[in-house]
Amino acid sequence: MSKQYDIKNIELADEGKRRIEWAEREMPVLRLIRERFAKEQPLKGIRLVACAHVTTETANLVRALQAAGADSVLIASNPLSTQDDVAAALVKYYGVSVFAIKGESTETYLRHVEMALDHKPQIIIDDGSDVVATLVKHRPDQIPDIIGSTEETTTGIVRLRAMLKEGKLTFPAIAVNDAQTKHFFDNRYGTGQSTLDGIIRATNILLAGRTIVVVGYGWCGKGVAMRGRGMGANIIVTEINPVKALEAVMDGFRVMPIEAAAVHGDIFITVTGNRHVIDKHHFSVMKDGVIVCNSGHFDLELNLVGLKELSSEVKAVRQWTEEYRLKSGKSVIVLGEGRLVNLAAAEGHPASVMDMSFANQALSAEYLIKKKGELEPNIHLLPVEIDEEIATLKLAAMDIKIDQLTSEMVEYLNSWQTGT
Ligand code: ADE
Repeated sequence: MSKQYDIKNIELADEGKRRIEWAEREMPVLRLIRERFAKEQPLKGIRLVACAHVTTETANLVRALQAAGADSVLIASNPLSTQDDVAAALVKYYGVSVFAIKGESTETYLRHVEMALDHKPQIIIDDGSDVVATLVKHRPDQIPDIIGSTEETTTGIVRLRAMLKEGKLTFPAIAVNDAQTKHFFDNRYGTGQSTLDGIIRATNILLAGRTIVVVGYGWCGKGVAMRGRGMGANIIVTEINPVKALEAVMDGFRVMPIEAAAVHGDIFITVTGNRHVIDKHHFSVMKDGVIVCNSGHFDLELNLVGLKELSSEVKAVRQWTEEYRLKSGKSVIVLGEGRLVNLAAAEGHPASVMDMSFANQALSAEYLIKKKGELEPNIHLLPVEIDEEIATLKLAAMDIKIDQLTSEMVEYLNSWQTGT
């Protein structure tokens, strides 16, 4: 199995290797883990499938897993997010089986998921739960081999919860997304920066003075709104959750229903994890030339089928940029085919935040092995000590020192007698 692959072009490997090494410079925590893994071999002989965006950062995660002794297969977690040079380098220089091609069809994507399951994984590292869902649906006979899985995204955890509710999740899964050193940084600062990066690379427009409508104010939406404001845009937030809506108001943003926001926005960015949050009737009232994109996990947040029904023509105007000319005479510009714009049109989150996300992934795989047979079939958090260890290592790598509790403070925190 370790020699098999389905990638665009092996000749891209040298460029991929250079870029993987460049990303490594920003991933000191993962590098420390890789060095320890190389000595201790915690995943020796373990068959592992990783389903992730095939980026330079993911390559560094896979290097750590390989160093730990895992027998790894890597597949794409989205048809449009693969960096073909990285896929080539992983095959040529790091001995990994990779099945991922940027722009692959849905059929190829699903075939790659099945091919990964042919590897008979014991550990699954998932991003969006496509491998776990396929295993549960198509290969229940392989479930007894599974030691556990890890999940990278909010969307994947929502799916795992639904599986658990139906009694379909019969092995332990670690919710990596829910670690503090993951979602506080990757979802917020990573999505914030890389989404704007994707919009800028696809369009080269000026953001200053534009009205950006951020649909959804979870950690990703918070990051996008914060960074959009930093670039001089006026931000409108839409939400369905009253607490998050109130947070957006007190963070200084205008909040209104999408129905009302639809006529104001110059740029719309969806980050909700839900279906058709921008629907056909919203498109028909938008301004002429409006730009619409998605940074949520799946490509269902924009109702592009509805948009097409309103249109007389769709044409590519730049790479990752399509103009839908509406029968009304107006046009709507869609970026990255409605898939994650930060990975389709740019390179995803910068390595410095993926360092912590993937430190969590690597340590979760090790944790599953250490706790083999002890964890219930359920969705688990990594212990908080591991979260804090990752933050401590990151601060040390940044040469930032913090205070320690004094014994007087510890005593106070453990007492209850002192009050007014
Ligand atoms: N998700 C978002 N950005 C990513 C990146 N750079 N690598 C892997 N997964 C990602």
